[in-house]
Amino acid sequence: MTRATETSNPLSFLDEALSQLRAEGLYRKLRVLSGEQRPTSRFDSREVINLSSNNYLGLTTHPKLREAALRAVKELGVGSGSVRTIAGTMDLHMELERRIAVFKKTEASVVFQSGFAANAGTVAAILGKDDLILSDELNHASIIDGARLSRAAIRVFPHRDPAALGRLLEETASVKRRLVITDGVFSMDGDIAPMREIAALARAHGAIMMVDDAHASGVLGQAGRGTVDHFGLHGQVDIQVGTLSKAIGVLGGYVAGSQSLIEYLYHRARPFLFSTSHPPAVASACLAAFDVLESEPERIERLWSNTKRFKDGLKRLGFDTGLSETPITPIMVGEADLAMKFSDRLFERGLFAQGIGFPTVAKGKARLRTIVTATHTEAELDRALSILEDVGRSLEIIR
Ligand SMILES: Cc1ncc(COP(=O)(O)O)c(C=O)c1O
Repeated sequence: MTRATETSNPLSFLDEALSQLRAEGLYRKLRVLSGEQRPTSRFDSREVINLSSNNYLGLTTHPKLREAALRAVKELGVGSGSVRTIAGTMDLHMELERRIAVFKKTEASVVFQSGFAANAGTVAAILGKDDLILSDELNHASIIDGARLSRAAIRVFPHRDPAALGRLLEETASVKRRLVITDGVFSMDGDIAPMREIAALARAHGAIMMVDDAHASGVLGQAGRGTVDHFGLHGQVDIQVGTLSKAIGVLGGYVAGSQSLIEYLYHRARPFLFSTSHPPAVASACLAAFDVLESEPERIERLWSNTKRFKDGLKRLGFDTGLSETPITPIMVGEADLAMKFSDRLFERGLFAQGIGFPTVAKGKARLRTIVTATHTEAELDRALSILEDVGRSLEIIR
């Protein structure tokens, strides 16, 4: 880079960074969806079996959610007009928060604009520079960003390793305020945190326990109540985060916990204070989604039977699916350029399974990340397996 080029375009370093991404096989064009988010959808003008959405229960297009959203638009308009703490708290926002608290069996809940905002906003609000965060090494980026924003010290424990966490808790006993934080279901690996052991350790050492249940909400526990319910830990996890953007099918994130936690977040969580609240259609559709979770349990049953069918098929074909125990099933590939080539070839054959590389996962651990949904048919899953077999063999990912 010459000095003259830099002077004429101070952003020229971005082009260099992009060239580097291309050279490493990590440059991605956005796939564009025309029409609805469904198990078979049209992306980039091609009809593909869609194993890349987080639409676990097929709620993005559920008639009850559509109707609820349309009703809200007709009756209340399209926007809330303000942040929650000024003029943007509508009846529907309060109703949704009450509903989530009942669902999660906590005293209260607060809704944020996204799961990202819920995690980052909460961690940054409750901890400060004299505090300590103990975080699983594969926790979501929003937890990591919240931890950085809080200015608390951060100690990372090895993935799903309660013994290592226990040692860290002992070593750091002199720190007054500590937060133990883990994803409930890990978003790129599909494995489940050992919540019983982790929550017991946090309790024994007087630390705050927080879980990010973005991928457990609507998936694990009774009617999709999440990992706390799945492990029978009600009352033992101080802060539960969930999203409204994945299985719930709409948009948003929430924190469920004690009344004081929620009131404190109303006063101190910066995305809550400084960013406009959801349009009424979003809140209304989310409320309808909680009705559907309770009234259509067969969706979650179907999600799990589809998951089993697909995972068994992948194993039979000889794919390495890591440690996944949930509908998120990685297909481990190794190098990023091979993962991206695999993904592109599958796409040409009619299957959308996103390739994932660094920095989303560690270097050398590139993969395809697949998620089946409750609404995939068995024929779609079998067709997906047959495409995976053909392309996997041609690229020698399986033999
Ligand atoms: C584990 C985890 N936490 C939080 C989020 C953020 O949720 P949202 O998409 O609602 O911002 C995601 C989604 O990307 C996630 O995978």
